[in-house]
Amino acid sequence: MLPEAFLNELKYRSDIEQVIGGYVQLRRRGRNLTGLCPFHSEKTPSFTVYPENQSFYCFGCGAGGDVISFIRRAENLDYMEAIRFLAARAGMEVPESQMDDTAHRLKMRILEMNREAARYFHQCLMSPTGKAARAYLVGRGLTKATVTRFGLGYAPNSWDSLTVFLRSKGYTIEEMTAGGLAATGKKGGCYDSFRDRVIFPIIDLRGGVIGFGGRIMEGSGPKYLNSPDTPVFKKSRNLFAMNFAKNTKRGELMLAEGYMDVIAMHQAGFDNAVAALGTAFTDEQARLLAQYTDTVVLAGDSDGPGQKAVRRNTVILEKAGIKVRVLTITGAKDPDEFIKKYGAERFELLVEGSKSALDFQIQQLRSRNDVTSAEGRIAFLQEFVRLMAATPSPIQRDVYISKVCRELEVDKQAVVLQLEAALKRKRSGEQKKEARDLKVFTDRDPAGRMDFERQRSPKAALAGERLIAYLMKNPDQVSRVATSVREEQFVSPMDRRLYQLVKERLLAGQPADLFSLSGQLETGEMDRLSAILTVEGGQNISDAEAEDYIRVLQQVGTEKKPEEVGKMEDDELRRYIASLTANKK
Ligand code: CTP
Ligand code: MN
Repeated sequence: MLPEAFLNELKYRSDIEQVIGGYVQLRRRGRNLTGLCPFHSEKTPSFTVYPENQSFYCFGCGAGGDVISFIRRAENLDYMEAIRFLAARAGMEVPESQMDDTAHRLKMRILEMNREAARYFHQCLMSPTGKAARAYLVGRGLTKATVTRFGLGYAPNSWDSLTVFLRSKGYTIEEMTAGGLAATGKKGGCYDSFRDRVIFPIIDLRGGVIGFGGRIMEGSGPKYLNSPDTPVFKKSRNLFAMNFAKNTKRGELMLAEGYMDVIAMHQAGFDNAVAALGTAFTDEQARLLAQYTDTVVLAGDSDGPGQKAVRRNTVILEKAGIKVRVLTITGAKDPDEFIKKYGAERFELLVEGSKSALDFQIQQLRSRNDVTSAEGRIAFLQEFVRLMAATPSPIQRDVYISKVCRELEVDKQAVVLQLEAALKRKRSGEQKKEARDLKVFTDRDPAGRMDFERQRSPKAALAGERLIAYLMKNPDQVSRVATSVREEQFVSPMDRRLYQLVKERLLAGQPADLFSLSGQLETGEMDRLSAILTVEGGQNISDAEAEDYIRVLQQVGTEKKPEEVGKMEDDELRRYIASLTANKK
C-alpha cells in the first residue's frame, strides 16, 4: 500500500481539470467543465469534469471516476502504472511501500493520544486548577454548553502535567513529540508544549482530534499557539469547526479568521462558520469547502490585514468555483466582538446584507478586467451577464444593467439580448437536469444498466447509493451507519461491495474519497460510484435524509409479497402493518 501522505500530495498535484485538459478540450459550464468524451465517439459533449470533487462522468457512455481512473483508461494502464505516470507528471518520486505500516500505526497512536489529551485538558478546565480559565471563557461570553460542544480545555501551568498523564496511559515521549504535545529541551529533557493556556481541540471530518490551539490568558508570549504539522495534522488541509459546519442547514458556509470568532458565531446560531488554523487560507481548504457548498460568506476582521485577507481569499475561493459574498463588519473588530456588542440579530442582518451585495461583486469583476480595453470590456460584460443571469430579481437586474451600461457607455439593448439568451440557456439546463434525475433508472443509465436487482428495487437501490455518498462526505458518521445497516440490506451486489469497502476503510481510519478508493475498485465500480456522487443526487445529503435512507434499507427483506399478505391471519397482518409503519417513522 502506498503511504497516505504520498497519495495526498499526488492528489493535490494532479488537479483533474489540468490533467484531463491535456486530453480533452474542456469548456467551462457553471461550476463544471464539459467536452467530447475520449472514451466513446460523440458529436455533442456529454463528458463532464467536476472540479469540486475532482471527478469526471460521461452521460453518454457512463465512464466515470477520479483522476487515476481517467489515466488508467486514457493510457490503458493498471493502477500502479497510472500512479507512476501521474507522479512523473507531478515531478514526484513513488516511495517504496514497507514503511507505510509503521507510519499508519504511529498515526493511529497519535490520534488516540490526542483524544486522551483533549479529555485531560477538558477535565483540567472543569477542576479547581481551571478556575481562572473558566472565568476567562465566561468573561468572553461562552456558555457551558458551548464549552462542552467544542470540548474546550485548559493546559495547566506546569512543565510536565500532560506528559506525566500521557506516560501513565502508556504513551512514549517519541509519540508525544511526534504529535506535537511535548517538546525536548536543549539538555534532552522533555516538557509540555501547551502550558497555562485555554485549549481549542481541532477535530477533522472523521471525528478525530488532530491537533490543538491554545490561547494565552495573560502575561507575555504569543497570543495563540497551535500544534505543528504532525502525521495526523496538516494545517493547510483542515478547517476549524468544519466537523460541525458540514452539517449546517444554512445553504452557505462562513469563513472567519479566528477560533473565538467561529465559536461565538456557532453559539449565536451561525453553525456554518469555519476558520483556517493559524495560517493563511489555502487552495486545499477552498477545495474542501467546495465539496460542501457553492457559496462562502467571508467574515474577516474589519482591520486592514483582515480586509487584505478578504481580497486574497476571494481569489482563492473563486478559483475553486465558489461564489463569494463579503460581510462588512462595522463598529467592531471581528465577528466575535460584533456579536457580543450588537447581538445575533444584527449579525444576521449583516449576513442578509451580504446577499444583495451585487455592487461588491460587480466591483470585483471590474477590478479583474481592464474595462478601458475592448477585450477587457468584452470579458467583463460576459461575466457580468452571467452574474445577472444568476440574479433572480428582474428589477435588480434592470437597475444594474442600466447602471453598468451607462458607466461603460455600451448599448443596453445588446446586453439585454445577451442576458435573455443566458437565461434561456440556464432554464433549459435546469430542465435537462430534471429530466436526467427522472431518468436515473431508465435505459439512459449506463453505469447501472446491467444491474437487475437495482432495476427491480429502485427505491432501495437509490437509498443505498445515497447512503454511500453520505458516508463518503461524513466519515464521522460511519459507526452510526454501520450499526444501523448491514451489507445484505443493500439490494445490488455492486452497491453492497461499495458500501463494504467505504465502511471498512473509514472504520480503519483511512480516507474514502474517489481518489483513495481508486486502487481497490474495478472500472465498472468506479463508473457507478462517480455516477452516484455527481449525477444521482449524492451531492448534499443531510443527516435527516440519511436517516430516511437507513430506514428504507432496514425495511429491505421485511416487506412481504402481496400474495403472502393476502394469506395472513388477522393478528399477523396487524403486526405486519405495525412494523411497516414503525419503519416509516
Ligand atoms: N493566530 C495565531 N497565532 C497568533 C495570533 C493569531 O495562530 N499569535 C491565529 C489564530 O488561529 C487566531 C487567528 O489567527 O484565532 C486570529 O487572530 P486574532 O485576530 O489576533 O485573534 P482573535 O481571533 O480575535 O482572538 P481573540 O479574540 O482571542 O483575541
Ligand atoms: Mn477576537
